[in-house]
Amino acid sequence: MAVVTGATSGIGLALARRLHDRRYRLVLVGRDAGRLHAARDALGATDAVVEAVDVADPDAVAQFCAGTLGRFQGIDLLVCNAGVPARQDALATDPAVLRHVMGVNLHGMADVTRGLWAGLASARGTVVNVVSVAGTVATAYDAPYTASKHAALAWSRSLAAVAPRDGVHVLTVNPGPVVTPGFPQTELLRSRLARCAVIDVDRCADDILRALHSGRSEVFVPGYWRVAAWIQALAPGLARRLTARVRPSAGP
Ligand SMILES: NC(=O)c1ccc[n+]([C@@H]2O[C@H](COP(=O)([O-])OP(=O)(O)OC[C@H]3O[C@@H](n4cnc5c(N)ncnc54)[C@H](OP(=O)(O)O)[C@@H]3O)[C@@H](O)[C@H]2O)c1
Repeated sequence: MAVVTGATSGIGLALARRLHDRRYRLVLVGRDAGRLHAARDALGATDAVVEAVDVADPDAVAQFCAGTLGRFQGIDLLVCNAGVPARQDALATDPAVLRHVMGVNLHGMADVTRGLWAGLASARGTVVNVVSVAGTVATAYDAPYTASKHAALAWSRSLAAVAPRDGVHVLTVNPGPVVTPGFPQTELLRSRLARCAVIDVDRCADDILRALHSGRSEVFVPGYWRVAAWIQALAPGLARRLTARVRPSAGP
């Protein structure tokens, strides 16, 4: 069976569709019961369990994890995908926004994983952490988001180092820009050049599934985005100048 957080929309919904096609029994997690039921209907996954949980709420996560471990003996796959954007520059960052985005994108991932760990270990399962290229390079106008994804990437890499002790495999995924309801990529799509760097959600989900089945431990989606991480590591001044040119998005 597979647990997918952020399963009502975008990358999570596309992954859930593919996992349902591969006959995984699904637990779909999102904040809103209505959207979760709509996702389950859209998937035709009549046996899927839907759980309305705010992953940034530690008490709700603890309750959800205890219930899931009580219902299922083993968890074959956990996809930590729930995430929110936050578009502000570093100086204009609202502390409440920073706390919220860290709560969802970092603590949500960590708390759900730790809460379900016993089930993952008993099934010798896999954790897929959906992080971002923004975990490797900081853009000027997404300071809270990019901070949360840098932290999530570090956390996922740390987890990957210890997970094999319990027989669990971790796949860290760093997508580049993908058109989804939460990340419509409006600015990038407006530019003829930048548009080439944007992919659709089906391409993203197919690449993640391929990486999962090939046993990889960290991938960029598409693979050419790893160049961004190399530039950051080898030429941080160039990375800073390039990312300062990325204009703020008109998206949510
Ligand atoms: N799209 C991109 O360009 C891109 C690139 C790199 C990485 N990513 C990452 O990919 C992941 C999925 O993003 P997406 O593009 O598919 O965005 P999306 O279409 O907005 O989907 C986000 C999902 O997360 C759920 N969610 C948000 N806050 C939540 C919370 N507090 N508790 C539980 N669920 C919550 C949403 O469900 P409800 O609103 O129904 O609760 C929704 O199902 C995110 O982690 C994002 O950072 C996206």
